[in-house]
Amino acid sequence: MDIPEAWEQLAVAEPRGVIMIVGAPDMGKSTLARHLYGRLCAEGRTVAFLDGDPGQSTLGPPATMTLALGLPGEVAFPPGGPQWRRFVGAVSPRGHMLTLVVAAARLAVAAQMAGAETVIYDTTGLVDPAQGGLNLKLAKINLLQPAAVIAIQRDNELEPLLAPLRRGGPARLIELAPSEAVSPRDQLTRQAHRAQQFSRYFSDAHTLSVAWDQMAIFPGPVFAYNQLVALEDPAGFVRGLGILRQADFQKRRVVLHTPLASLADVSALRLGDLAVDPRTYRDQRVMG
Ligand SMILES: Nc1ncnc2c1ncn2[C@@H]1O[C@H](COP(=O)(O)OP(=O)(O)O)[C@@H](O)[C@H]1O
Ligand SMILES: [Mg+2]
Repeated sequence: MDIPEAWEQLAVAEPRGVIMIVGAPDMGKSTLARHLYGRLCAEGRTVAFLDGDPGQSTLGPPATMTLALGLPGEVAFPPGGPQWRRFVGAVSPRGHMLTLVVAAARLAVAAQMAGAETVIYDTTGLVDPAQGGLNLKLAKINLLQPAAVIAIQRDNELEPLLAPLRRGGPARLIELAPSEAVSPRDQLTRQAHRAQQFSRYFSDAHTLSVAWDQMAIFPGPVFAYNQLVALEDPAGFVRGLGILRQADFQKRRVVLHTPLASLADVSALRLGDLAVDPRTYRDQRVMG
């Protein structure tokens, strides 16, 4: 990993609370987030890592956001402590921005309640104002009130966000240029990364039959073949993901391919916007 001079000089020990990392795709956000996580752990801090990108996720399967807490004395990534996961149901924030903001807030609260002093929040690359990216970042900043926002920009693409933040606002703003070692990833590489993350998640999956009258179904019992679904606890956190293989409308049951062993503590089935092939783990949008 290339550690630019400016990264070394980041005074990260000072802000406690949420450190939010923003920038367009392929700016090195996730790489910087891991670097900062390691440095804070090495200083003996209790750190949580919030993987907030349901497209190119690092801590969990795609279409989710995962928070993991570091264990005392541990520096390695991924953090080995308890995890909390929220289901977004899509690999792009478009059309799911409220879900993303709510998930980030719920995970940040979980981190605080678990005793994290600092939460490193790695965000999606959607920053384009024309696509709602500016409002998405502003909403997150408003709600989470991060102690610091670290912005990585190459070509003034973050100016609509940074110009007001520079003139004040709740968060300390730290501006960085991308590392020269950053390599952009094309759509195929991104798809392959998602397939690998799904494949890892489902590596010891089996078949589980679920009676859908025993739980809430969001949005309702209209299923698509190979649809990605989440089994959630009463607080809305993911107990396990599943791929929907069969739906029996007579018996009112669905058959899932899932690593989840039991339905204990599961109170809802949430349907995603994508289908995942359980052999190749390639995903595609479900038209609804
Ligand atoms: N400082 C760095 N040194 C080496 N490789 C890097 C560095 N920053 C990013 N990369 C590489 O560039 C690619 C994109 O980086 P990533 O951190 O995933 O960006 P982002 O999260 O902003 O999309 C990855 O393949 C990553 O390994
Ligand atoms: Mg990333």
